[in-house]
Amino acid sequence: MQKNKISNRIHLIAKQAKILKPYFLSIADIGTDHGYLPYIMHSDDSIGSSILCDINNGPLENAKKTFEGHDQYPVEFRLGSGLEPLEPKESELVVIAGMGGGLIQDILINDLEKSKSYPYFLIQPMTEQDQLRSFLIDNGFNILWDHFFIDAKKHYELIVVSTNFDTDVEYKYDLISIPCNDLEFGKRIRKSQVDAYLEFLENKKSKYEYILNQVTKNNYNEKVTKCNTKLSTILTIEQTLKTL
Ligand SMILES: C[S@@+](CC[C@H](N)C(=O)[O-])C[C@H]1O[C@@H](n2cnc3c(N)ncnc32)[C@H](O)[C@@H]1O
Repeated sequence: MQKNKISNRIHLIAKQAKILKPYFLSIADIGTDHGYLPYIMHSDDSIGSSILCDINNGPLENAKKTFEGHDQYPVEFRLGSGLEPLEPKESELVVIAGMGGGLIQDILINDLEKSKSYPYFLIQPMTEQDQLRSFLIDNGFNILWDHFFIDAKKHYELIVVSTNFDTDVEYKYDLISIPCNDLEFGKRIRKSQVDAYLEFLENKKSKYEYILNQVTKNNYNEKVTKCNTKLSTILTIEQTLKTL
């Protein structure tokens, strides 16, 4: 498997894992499909062992192919839904990427005590990011930071989560809180990511301006109010971040 054939999205997730911790003893990749993320992390020597899980056999067969010729990597392939194929505390880091936010929430809530037995999660939801953040906060997960990035012109959101509440994380990872309560715009980012975050906000702004333009023509009052609130929140965040 050639690493440069794997999408930038996967490489960028692996990079955030390294920032979180340079080396994980064990990781689990839930909904692994081709197993590309664990493959990258093994070849970078940033993990000891990995458990690749998927609800379908086809993806697990794809993952086995990715690891063909790499018997030196301690990898297990397990069939099953969500965290069910894992034992409690079995992995130091759990990755759930490329699925809808609702499905990710179902996976975590299925056995909350078990979910919280894993110290770290990297979660990359494709949809419903704000509801998922709200679920995480309400259920005692600690959002360390949000990472906003672009691959092949598409915007992605990665939520870096811990299940304990260390007091020094803001200092350790150089974090700043997003100055608003609307979780669509994230909770915290790394200071070095302000420019990338401002690009994400520009994208959101275009989206709400477009909707506003459409609904104004049709005069939907509730939607107009919602768009204006979102746009004013974006403006406040932008102004605050630009003064840092
Ligand atoms: C779009 S792929 C994402 C693959 C990879 N994680 C990534 O980010 O590129 C979604 C994968 O999740 C698997 N999947 C869907 N529901 C699942 C569940 N409840 N538990 C485990 N895997 C699931 C699918 O079979 C599929 O292989």
